[in-house]
Amino acid sequence: MKTTIWTVDKNVDKQEGYQQIAQAAHFLKENEVIAFPTETVYGLGGNAKSDVAVAKIFAAKGRPSDNPLIMHIADKNQLKDIVEEIPEKAHLLIDQFWPGPLTIIFRKKEGVLSEKATAGLPTVAVRMPDHPIALALIAESGLPIAAPSANRSGKPSPTTANHVFEDLDGRIPGIVDGGSTGVGVESTVVDCTEEIPTILRPGGITKEQLEAVVGEVRVDPALADENQAPKAPGMKYKHYAPNAPLYLVNGTQSFIQKLVDEKQKQGQVVGVLTTEEHQGDYRADYIFACGRRSDLKTVANFLYKVLRSFNRSSVDVIYSEMFPTEGVGQAIMNRLMKAAGGKIIEETSEK
Ligand code: TXA
Ligand code: MG
Repeated sequence: MKTTIWTVDKNVDKQEGYQQIAQAAHFLKENEVIAFPTETVYGLGGNAKSDVAVAKIFAAKGRPSDNPLIMHIADKNQLKDIVEEIPEKAHLLIDQFWPGPLTIIFRKKEGVLSEKATAGLPTVAVRMPDHPIALALIAESGLPIAAPSANRSGKPSPTTANHVFEDLDGRIPGIVDGGSTGVGVESTVVDCTEEIPTILRPGGITKEQLEAVVGEVRVDPALADENQAPKAPGMKYKHYAPNAPLYLVNGTQSFIQKLVDEKQKQGQVVGVLTTEEHQGDYRADYIFACGRRSDLKTVANFLYKVLRSFNRSSVDVIYSEMFPTEGVGQAIMNRLMKAAGGKIIEETSEK
């Protein structure tokens, strides 16, 4: 299959941009799947009402069929067509954060969406992305669009059209290229089917931001405990993993340097994941700076790009600095822990 790339200016008002969007939307209406930018990461979209389209999404990604998709809408009015009810707290969150990087879980309206899209669950995940191209494409298709991140399953999510191309060239008919995404990590997933909202996946909107709107918010305890099954099926999979083993290091730069030196002495090629502030502190084969520690949003922004860069280098092992779990740091550490398969080296325990 040939993969067409439509380059669209983020300002899709231009007539030319609209023609490209219309072409891409035509594919969606024909139950084909198309990758497109959102404000978080690129999504791989298909008609959420069609088993045929949804099956193509799972096939292109190599995604396990028990992992439900997020439905993307372009207009808040589309919500009532797919959910059974909109609880009061969900209303408040929608007013505050849509369009934006917040996915809300509702009880679903039966018989509307493809059962494959919701993995047969009684609930459905919905979000309205804050990206002019995503909104124009969804509106033009006239459909709710089921869209997981547009990576091959297990790989870091794509933050550029080029990342999508790396993973899905020849497997999908088209990619709408709207440049780099903004947030860099996926949306926060919050379950609003019970009285107290529960975060199932930390992301672009922080716990603190949610609490400012709806009061108490819980975090799925399984996120901090490997022995529990997470409520978001996708959170149980090892994700974002670079090809080489990655270790998170809870320690100083000089401790990390010691680890690097030891491996290099054994003839290994070593990578370090750091930030602009500490970039000059290391001697290693590959040193990738992931934004600025003083502004964690920039770390989120570059995280997946850096994880993909390690895959293009020939590293045998990667050591990564850790980050505070405040604000978007929670999402950053959640993804890094997954990339590391939970492996942490503590400086204190080594002394
Ligand atoms: O930012 C994002 O959310 C991106 C962009 C493309 O919108 N999408 C994305 O989708 O990250 P995906 O499929 O990679 O992740 C969806 C997550 C998975 O962990 C899945 O298990 C969970 O949402 N999920 C979907 N429906 C659910 C449901 N009904 N109950 C619990 N978890 C659900
Ligand atoms: Mg994903």
